[in-house]
Amino acid sequence: MPDWKNPPRLFIPGPVKVDDDVLQQLARPTLGHRGKEYAQLHGETVEMLKKILFTEQNVFLCTCSGSGLWEAAIRNCVAPDETILATCCGAFSDKWAEVAEMCGRKVDRLKVEWGQPTTAEQIDAKLSAGKYAAITLVYNETSTGLTNPVYEISKMMKAKYPDVLVFVDAVSGLIGLPMHFDELGWDVGFASVQKAFAMPPGFTVAAVSNRAVEKSKSVPDRGYYFDFVQWAKSAAKSQTLVTPSIPHIAALHYQCEKLVKEGMENVWARHKEMGEFVRGWARKSFEVFCEEKYASNTLTTVKNTRGIVVADVIKAVQEKHNTVFGNGYGQLKDKTFRIAHMGDITLADVKELCGWIDEAIG
Ligand SMILES: Cc1ncc(COP(=O)(O)O)c(C=O)c1O
Repeated sequence: MPDWKNPPRLFIPGPVKVDDDVLQQLARPTLGHRGKEYAQLHGETVEMLKKILFTEQNVFLCTCSGSGLWEAAIRNCVAPDETILATCCGAFSDKWAEVAEMCGRKVDRLKVEWGQPTTAEQIDAKLSAGKYAAITLVYNETSTGLTNPVYEISKMMKAKYPDVLVFVDAVSGLIGLPMHFDELGWDVGFASVQKAFAMPPGFTVAAVSNRAVEKSKSVPDRGYYFDFVQWAKSAAKSQTLVTPSIPHIAALHYQCEKLVKEGMENVWARHKEMGEFVRGWARKSFEVFCEEKYASNTLTTVKNTRGIVVADVIKAVQEKHNTVFGNGYGQLKDKTFRIAHMGDITLADVKELCGWIDEAIG
């Protein structure tokens, strides 16, 4: 019998385990969202996030999961008669392209084989042959465990297509991977907090460029809940448009304090160390699914080269250690499995898990 009050420790690529000290932050007394105390909490959190995301532009605290920002970027910043170039290299980037179409926008897809990155050259070739208002990019594909070369792509975009808006889903990348938002010239970059922020799900952090907010003023039918123009007006008062999930913001404040204190270089190094360990382990018995050069430091997708029954191994580890890791996602189910190494998961944690998987495989 499952017992939701005694759940397994999570090494799935989101939600990941949340430490008790973080959970306690969600139990703080409720604040009135138009009161001075809330404005203080909001303002301090945004100031810390600006340091973490390397931006002086807008940082929005969004009471929705990451998918909400897929929709928000499109509905705010792309007019109905404009076309988006959607880069597709796995399940989540594919889904964003679909969502853009569900928002009634014209979408042209740049597809690569799963496990391969989307490169600056490929994007350049597409953009030079058509007229696009924006591109969508997934920084870290959670299905294939691949980190796209977003720094190279951004350099090319700034040099050759400065007028094309850049929307980046950094859901499973932030804050385990660098994101110098202003320097990269991105327009929308976001992450839901159940990944490397190591918090319970239901909340998203977004950086939005000033020009994206300006553009949204001219885009019709943006809706209400996700309207960047209204969000920016509220943010100027250290508020949100509607009642936010204040418990999440209290926990986010706590996590940001720790991140600022640790220093982002150290945070990224900690994730790299875990990534290298898991990839080293994977190479001994299996293979890393994607090209090694692009393998993610926040999660590893392991190619099931030994034909193990993934579900059985997950079950065995859960039964013995009350811990779960992830099966492959979508078309990669059973052909791969995934281990998260992000957030407050430690190197000691992943070493322990890999040992347990070895033990279960025999
Ligand atoms: C890369 C990526 N984008 C978007 C999403 C969707 O995020 P959410 O479940 O927070 O809506 C996920 C979820 O795993 C993801 O990994």
